[in-house]
Amino acid sequence: MISLQDVSHDFTGFQVLQEVSLDLHEHRIAFIGANGSGKSTLARTLNGLLVPQQGSVLVDGVDTRKDPARVRRRVGFMFSDANHQIIMPTVAEDVALGLRGQKLSKPEKSDIVAGVLNRYGLSGLSGHPAHLLSGGQKQMLALASVLVTEPDILICDEPTTLLDLHNVQIFLDTLGHLSQQVILMTHHLDIIDDFDRVIVMDRGQVHFDGLPREAVAAYRHLIGSRKREGIPR
Ligand SMILES: Nc1ncnc2c1ncn2[C@@H]1O[C@H](COP(=O)(O)OP(=O)(O)O)[C@@H](O)[C@H]1O
Ligand SMILES: [Mg+2]
Repeated sequence: MISLQDVSHDFTGFQVLQEVSLDLHEHRIAFIGANGSGKSTLARTLNGLLVPQQGSVLVDGVDTRKDPARVRRRVGFMFSDANHQIIMPTVAEDVALGLRGQKLSKPEKSDIVAGVLNRYGLSGLSGHPAHLLSGGQKQMLALASVLVTEPDILICDEPTTLLDLHNVQIFLDTLGHLSQQVILMTHHLDIIDDFDRVIVMDRGQVHFDGLPREAVAAYRHLIGSRKREGIPR
């Protein structure tokens, strides 16, 4: 379980996260909230990509401040733009990168890579130049390259933002069948209906924490009240 304890962070005097405390134990959790509400910053604290200035983030008791490498082995991370994540020239090489450092023979690695490509609809593309894949295929490759490392938890920061509807559905269907705990930051309010818990962020704080339907209503209400007050987001 990931546990945030009084997490605060500011970027050059701007408080992006304010005393956020959360125990994230449900299987599928979504974070929603306006642009700039702190979702991505919070996401990056969950696997130690960012260590908060105050407070702590514990992953099964391991503090991201003390052992970020161990945390990153347990917690995978996906960005919106798969281009930021795909590193190697070909599809198979990109997936295989996640296995480096593991004591496996070449055939063993090839087998694992083939299995992962097959599972995520990329078999037949193993030798394909990764940068020539379609947007949807790139996002599946990014997912495959994270999951080959067998993390226990997967953090996805707006993974469907750049996908068309068809690929959003394929991607979500895949996410929905994972054994991993999934923590999703999103603007797509219609894709979180079946999540176990939805947290609404507002100005670096937890505004609402509960079930999807109530959370979306609370978020819409919040945006509506801001509009009436004329307060810029
Ligand atoms: N590296 C950074 N340096 C300075 N400001 C940042 C940085 N990253 C994010 N911010 C600011 O922090 C605020 C929250 O951003 P972010 O966590 O990306 O929110 P969200 O993902 O909800 O849109 C924004 O105002 C953003 O401009
Ligand atoms: Mg963001």
